[in-house]
Amino acid sequence: MILNAVEIKPDVYWVGGIDWDLRNFHGYQTPGGTTYNAYLIKDKKIVLIDTVKHYLFDEMMSRIKDVIDPKKIDVIISNHVEMDHSGSLPKIKEYIPDATVVTSTRGEKGLQKHYTEDLNLKVMKSGESLNIGDRTLEFLHMPMVHWPDSMATYSLHDKLLLPNDAFGQHIASAERFDDDLGWSLVRSEAAKYYANIVLPYGDQVTKVLDAVKDLSIDMIAPSHGVIWRSYLKEIIQEYQQWSTFTPKKKAVIIYDSMWGSTKTLAYALAEGIEKTGMPVTLRNLTTTHVSDIVTDIMESRLICLGSPTLNNGMMPSMGSLLTYVKGLRPRNKLGFLFGSYGWGGQALTEMEKMIEPLQWTFPEEHLNINYIPQQEDLKKIQNIGKSLGNDIKKNNM
Ligand code: FEO
Repeated sequence: MILNAVEIKPDVYWVGGIDWDLRNFHGYQTPGGTTYNAYLIKDKKIVLIDTVKHYLFDEMMSRIKDVIDPKKIDVIISNHVEMDHSGSLPKIKEYIPDATVVTSTRGEKGLQKHYTEDLNLKVMKSGESLNIGDRTLEFLHMPMVHWPDSMATYSLHDKLLLPNDAFGQHIASAERFDDDLGWSLVRSEAAKYYANIVLPYGDQVTKVLDAVKDLSIDMIAPSHGVIWRSYLKEIIQEYQQWSTFTPKKKAVIIYDSMWGSTKTLAYALAEGIEKTGMPVTLRNLTTTHVSDIVTDIMESRLICLGSPTLNNGMMPSMGSLLTYVKGLRPRNKLGFLFGSYGWGGQALTEMEKMIEPLQWTFPEEHLNINYIPQQEDLKKIQNIGKSLGNDIKKNNM
């Protein structure tokens, strides 16, 4: 295997792995694959920042060999314990047993639990730094962005922030930079990534944004996807919106249906919302994966959820969505529940119980229709849609 490194700054190289085939990242669907980005800095000391998933070890080594003999690596910085970044640590340590592995306080504990090998760990507290020649690397702990051990490495010499998972996107591509792919695509993947991975930790992200706002940065090199160099201002602005749970003035209607009644209600509700000029997206749980739907939830002010009653409860697809959403804890939402039933009609009560901890506001009574919606039912839900659309407009968060 002979692969190239990519020089992203003078003497700073991308030496990661491209996972073209990955389609599922612990439940998050990744139709475009992903990358695990490792970086190599060539200074008086040679430093490797993060590694790759274990099965891309040879690819990483081939890219490192494009720059230097891997045996010359003095220091490995482990910004994050999760195995997509630490998975190749034990293997590379076989080549360089004397190299120091720099990690955070919680990183030390995590790496010791994951690996039995002696990794020669050195703990860096938040704010501590390491001189490697012309450069002094600074370490910033980022607890719960998105694991307790998460850490960023910063090089003032290069105006470069390496924040590991933060600012990542799951994209496999031959291109390495945001402007190679364009804002629209990269922003969309960064939003999906944030919604699925980082959403519960908005308060911690806000602290990180505060901590880095005065640093001189012209490049952010995350551990997944492309490197930010042209859309820095834009992605930081998005992170500010997402981390403060600031939704856009729009709605999403998410539903499943058995015989079409709940679907008919969903479309009538959408008509009502549309009449107020507010954008509305329809998501059928049988055709759109939950990892895509949570991006809509993150970005929308109004979340409408529809399910028929099945076996005294909601549809399993709705249960699965709500289990996921409950963990991601989206805030500042208006909600509305609707559905249909033959007898019993417990779906909406069950749904309400599941999302109650999220403390959403429900301006309208739930609407549960027996068997088939009649004209008056459709009129009623259209009117509810108009009223909810007007509530979005008010933006009274
Ligand atoms: Fe990309 Fe939290 O690992």
